[in-house]
Formats: sequence, structure tokens, C-alpha cells
Amino acid sequence: MSDSCTFVIFGATGNLAQKKLLPALYHLEAAGRLPQDMRVLGVGRREWDDEAWRATVEGWLTTELRPGLDAEVFARFRARLCFFRGDLADAAVYERLRASLAAPEYSSNIAFYMSLAPADYAMVSNGLAEAGLNRDADGWRRVVIEKPFGYDLETADILNKRLHRYWREDQLFRIDHYLGKGTIQNILVFRFANLMLEPLWNRNFIDHVQIIHGETAGIGNRAGYYDGAGALRDMVQSHLLQMLTLVAMEPPPSLDAEALRDEKVKVLRSIRPIALSAVHAHAFRAQYARGRIGNERVVSYLEEPDVPANSTTETYVALKLLIDNWRWRHVPFFLRTGKRMAQSTSQISIRFKHPPQQLFRETQIKQLEPNWLLMGIQPSEFLRLEVQVKQQGLEMVAETQRLDAAVRGQAPFDIDAYEALLLDVIDGDHSLFLRFDEVSWAWRVVDPILKVWSIEREFIHTYPAGSWGPQEANRLFVRDDQRWRNTLEEE
Ligand code: BG6
Repeated sequence: MSDSCTFVIFGATGNLAQKKLLPALYHLEAAGRLPQDMRVLGVGRREWDDEAWRATVEGWLTTELRPGLDAEVFARFRARLCFFRGDLADAAVYERLRASLAAPEYSSNIAFYMSLAPADYAMVSNGLAEAGLNRDADGWRRVVIEKPFGYDLETADILNKRLHRYWREDQLFRIDHYLGKGTIQNILVFRFANLMLEPLWNRNFIDHVQIIHGETAGIGNRAGYYDGAGALRDMVQSHLLQMLTLVAMEPPPSLDAEALRDEKVKVLRSIRPIALSAVHAHAFRAQYARGRIGNERVVSYLEEPDVPANSTTETYVALKLLIDNWRWRHVPFFLRTGKRMAQSTSQISIRFKHPPQQLFRETQIKQLEPNWLLMGIQPSEFLRLEVQVKQQGLEMVAETQRLDAAVRGQAPFDIDAYEALLLDVIDGDHSLFLRFDEVSWAWRVVDPILKVWSIEREFIHTYPAGSWGPQEANRLFVRDDQRWRNTLEEE
């Protein structure tokens, strides 16, 4: 069992707390994984007492969780919930918080979760430290920081320096929830626990790699954050580049946090910098127009609440990256993400090269399909290898057959990424959290694109909501036979 601890959520009434953090904590409760005396202290401005907070959480969980709440589990969970009222902009609040946390029901091992607007991270972490809440003489003190970590390379660096003024690196947990997803972790197991893959995992055999994420949802009510961020910051700099590092990295000497992160950083450092003049050859952006998602008509990005009428913020990005090292030189990595796409799916697709010899030229097998290895991240977790076999019958005709590894993603294995990561915070395991050099090198990858796009503010391509995005993105491909693998089913 993990150390007893107090889990403090700043921004307790926000979207993340409602949709992710509290459901994850509840599931950990159900699984018997929360330390016995752990308390979950919500911090917010509302005039609530513990009872009001408990009732709100019950309402949220009832809505969020299917098939619903287990009365016995919730009774246990409820008893852990406490509320602290305060305005984080008020310097006196941190001293009050310190005094409250000194009460005997709270463990002195404390995790502070910044479920806040990124602009507030430095203010809150400084406020905590000035009240002495960073000192860990009598128990550990940890801070969990959500992405985006900074707005670009420069602001990420400033934020990091501010945090380091009072907090040690081992107290900081920069979270990227994609690293908590089962299939993302499976990339490592699949690559490094199977001998047969390693000889193929390089530029001699792989034509290109695609890492794509699509969601049917639009930006909802998040314009305040999203319009200043855009898809490149929101998805690529964090989640998609993290996936790329796991696909491309060398085997680490061990699975400890530093060894793993050292290898990921090496990949990011090896990505060929994109010259400002080459941004258009490497990156494509677009924004969703009106369209249909299933049977529902949906509005364009510009019609979403609080989006400025002339916004050219991208909701879709396609990117081509090259990794200049011995393993990957000349193998393009195509990254693509979009909101209001045709389906919600995340997938890594690895396309192998064609066999060197045209042995079947004189037969009815004209053009052999290449092998593909598909790793589904969501909605279901899967591994699929596509191979060519002879069709039954007298003719020499080939067809694609699929070798499917166990498809997961159904209860009871359906574990949300946050569950694993919150437990890691409590256990002090940094393996699945970002070290600052990772964040910084990831910003370096996207910084030239951000610079060029921030100047070119007059025009942006659009795509109908419910589509796979504009055809123009195909200009990133380096050969005619390259195409997007949007879903598992299409060949
Ligand atoms: C978040 C982004 O980090 O990841 C969202 O801010 C995005 O815009 C989300 O929708 C996607 O996460 P998931 O787990 O739903 O694929």
C-alpha cells in the first residue's frame, strides 16, 4: 500500500477535476488502491463547506461514470472529501491553507495538483512555498503540473525557473496523460520484449511512421484556453511528440525514470530542426468549418462560443519530422491531429518498405501491398500486423491478411490514464512524467512553426467538421504511394 497522503486539488470545480481527477480517484478507491487515511481536499472560490463539495462530487460522478456509483465505494470515498474555500490570488490564503493542513486528519505527505489555468502555476506554487508548504522535513511535498508547460520555448524556460526557485526537480510532476495510457506503455513492451522486431525497427525496413489522433468533439467551451493555444501546442508539442519518442527511442539501460527519459530526450534532440523557410514543407494547419458529426449538424470553429470572429487558430495540424540518427535517417514521421474529425481515434501506423525483388511481376500480383503494423491507442487498444498471403484458388493473386493481437479496451481492463498517473504521484515514481529537458526539446521542435504561423495570420485552410481534414495536407508525403491510415479498418 502507498504512503498515506493528502491530495489537494487547486481548481477543484473545473472541468479536469470533474471529468478526470475525481473519477480516477473514485476508481482507485473501488480498486482498494487509495492509502487508508488519504484525504482529497478540493480548493476553490465557491462558498462551499465539506458537505456541499461532497454532494457536488456525487453529482459529477453519477453523471460521468457508467454504470454508475457503487454506494459502498462512494461512502468510503465521500468520507475522504474536504473543501477549502479561498481565492488563490489572495496572498493570505496560503497561510490559511497551511494552518488547515496542519490538522491531525491530514497526512503531512501532500500532493498539490494544479488543475488551473497555466498562467496561475507560478503564482500558486510560489504562494505555497512562501507559506512553507514546499518544505518536506516531516513528509513529502509534490506538485503536479498539467500541460501546457509554457506557451513556447521561452515561456517554458521562465516557468521552469520560477518553479525551481522553491521546488526541487524531484518534487515536480509534469503530467502528460498520454503516458498513462495502456497502449502507450505497451509500445515499450512490444518493442523491447520481442526479439523479432528489433532487426526490422529502422530505416532499412521502415518506409515511414504515422502518429495520428482525431476526435469528433469540437472545442466546446474551452475557447479561452484553446484559441490562444491551437492544436500544435495542445496536442503535438505534448502527446504526439511523446508517442514519437517511444516509437523511436533506443532501448534504455533500465526502466528507471532517468534512464527512460534520457533516451526520450535523445530522440527529441535528434529531430532535424525545421528552418523557418521550410515550415510550409513540413507543417500544414487548418480549422474546422461547419459540418456533420453523425446525424448532428455542428457549427464552425469561428461560431463556437467566445472564439474571435477573425481567429486563424488551427484545430488541425499535419507535420512531417525527420530524425537524424543512425536508426531513422530518411524515415519520415508524419504526425496529425484534429478536432471535429470523422472519428475519434488515436493510432500509430508503421509502414514497411516493399520487398526489394519483384518476384511476382509475371503473375497476376501486380503491386504488392506493403506490410503495416498498426497500434491502436483508442478507442480500443490493439496491435495488428498486415501481411500478404496468396488468395485461395488457382490464380496467383495476393490479399492482405491481418494478424491481430488481443484487442483490449473493455471493462474490467479499461483503466483511465489518470488512474495510473495519480498512483505514481503518490508513490513518487517519475517514469511517466516529463523532465524539463524533454519539455524544452519538444518546444524546440515546434517553435519555428509557431513563429511562422504567428506571423501568417490572414488565412487558414478549412475542412468540413466530420471529415478527415483537407486533402492539401497530403503534400507532406514524400512519395505517391503514401497515404493516411485513418482507422484500423480501412486498408
Ligand atoms: C488534452 C487536450 O490534453 O488531450 C484536449 O487539451 C484533447 O484538447 C485531449 O481533447 C485528448 O485526450 P484523450 O485522452 O481524450 O485523447
